[in-house]
Amino acid sequence: MIEVTEVRAGYGDGPDILNGISLKAEPGRIVTILGPNGCGKSTLLKCIAGFVRPRAGHIRMSGEPVTDVPTYQKVRHHRVGFVPQTDNVFATMTVSENILLGGRLMQRLDRDRRFEALLAQYPSLAAKKNRRASALSGGERQLLSLARALISEPSILLLDEPSAGLSPRMMHDVFEAISEVRAGTVLPS
Ligand SMILES: Nc1ncnc2c1ncn2[C@@H]1O[C@H](COP(=O)(O)OP(=O)(O)OP(=O)(O)O)[C@@H](O)[C@H]1O
Ligand SMILES: [Mg+2]
Repeated sequence: MIEVTEVRAGYGDGPDILNGISLKAEPGRIVTILGPNGCGKSTLLKCIAGFVRPRAGHIRMSGEPVTDVPTYQKVRHHRVGFVPQTDNVFATMTVSENILLGGRLMQRLDRDRRFEALLAQYPSLAAKKNRRASALSGGERQLLSLARALISEPSILLLDEPSAGLSPRMMHDVFEAISEVRAGTVLPS
């Protein structure tokens, strides 16, 4: 469960981009944020993930206040996975290294099991696992970014423009992954 209450946020000493937005995402739900370019969708996701600190308002995860909790703690305690809209892979690292990075807080056995499962699930990534991410297409990078988020089996998956630039086949893979996460998201209420 994610609850955003009257959040205001912006960048540096610039104006508010978010002007008191509220939303609720119940467990097991897929919530989509729609709006024109530049309206603040990515900014809202960055607030929820912890990369941008709200100037006012509150964010809760599973009932706990997380407004000022840094990203790494949200990843650890609330199992948050985030797929950013841009700069979503580490270009000089290999495909495998990028995926494994998402599992750096996991037990080694679990991480290796998930890593193999993801390679089996996404043959297009497996075929290039030793290539640098800079050698991937835009759509492949997006899939890689998703795989990096999925390795830790997140309870909360934040996806910024998950289908932008993807072929129908890759879009199918991405939406399949989203519905798997949803099926696994059974939080006590
Ligand atoms: N790092 C930043 N520093 C300063 N301003 C920023 C920064 N990132 C975004 N902005 C500004 O915040 C506003 C909202 O941007 P944001 O990326 O949240 O929009 P968006 O709804 O995700 O747009 P799009 O549909 O194009 O992805 C824009 O006016 C943008 O110029
Ligand atoms: Mg955006």
